[in-house]
Amino acid sequence: MSDSLKEYISDYRNMIEMELQEHLQKLSIPEQLKDSMLYSVEAGGKKLRPILLLASYQAYKKDYKKAVSSSVALEMIHTYSLIHDDLPALDDDDYRRGKPTNHKAFNEATAILAGDALLTYSFEVIAKDPLLDAEQKVEIMKMLSFCSGPSGMVAGQFLDMGAENREVTIEELEKIHMLKTGKLLEFAVFTGAYLAGASEKQLEHLKQFSFYLGLIFQVQDDILDVMGDEEQLGKPVGSDEGNEKSTYPKLLGIEGAIKKKEEYAANAAAALQKANAQNTYLMALMEYFSNRSY
Ligand code: IPE
Ligand code: IPE
Ligand code: MG
Ligand code: MG
Ligand code: MG
Repeated sequence: MSDSLKEYISDYRNMIEMELQEHLQKLSIPEQLKDSMLYSVEAGGKKLRPILLLASYQAYKKDYKKAVSSSVALEMIHTYSLIHDDLPALDDDDYRRGKPTNHKAFNEATAILAGDALLTYSFEVIAKDPLLDAEQKVEIMKMLSFCSGPSGMVAGQFLDMGAENREVTIEELEKIHMLKTGKLLEFAVFTGAYLAGASEKQLEHLKQFSFYLGLIFQVQDDILDVMGDEEQLGKPVGSDEGNEKSTYPKLLGIEGAIKKKEEYAANAAAALQKANAQNTYLMALMEYFSNRSY
């Protein structure tokens, strides 16, 4: 990773972490509910989705303040998805972001409710942002519900569960990855560019870019579940094999998965060029998503 990307990521990660904490700290709610929400948010995590949203904004406009509430909301939804993903009914994992999973640190009921709370609070954060006008709020909330709900991430998680213990085709696997991981990345890329005033045509090309970006991100996640370093990842390695998950390495082998990822990266780069965003942090982030080691 270049020094400039490293600095970019670290600056915006700090800013997003502070914003998240501020939004959660000010809630007057039952103490244990607040503690469990803060626990997962403060556990670390790369904060790549909010950073992607900010980078998408900055591909078309300099300042970024207008994009902050959507970035915070997106990270809340992502964190909720991880809390629920780790539950015994789903992936049943005990370790996340370098700490015991939420249901291990608290209990299952609290983890379910902390997830629910982060999900719903995310919409409140957008609705209350004084920097957005009414039309922008509606457009962003429409996209956020579409990408995270039954047409997006939740559908992907559902299909992922149904693809355990059986053979799937590569097309089926692409669809699962596109939904469970790609849709939140699509929200990030769309919202940043939309708020910065990108054209309809540019947004259309960015949608293509997001599609490949989601596949790249999840293929690398699947590869790291086989070859990654548990300490560095902060989550268990071998979870997919244990759950007999359908993954790219399982279907194509590690070599095949890497080849497929490179194919997706070339398609993503071409789409980015058409969106006039080839020399931006979006391109650097795409390359990083593909080659990251945690
Ligand atoms: C993990 O996402 C879940 C996937 C969609 C693969 P990240 O790898 O971004 O997890 P954090 O936020 O850094 O913990
Ligand atoms: C999860 O995919 C994607 C989500 C929507 C949460 P994984 O189950 O592969 O994510 P990890 O490996 O547990 O982070
Ligand atoms: Mg899962
Ligand atoms: Mg999981
Ligand atoms: Mg995984």
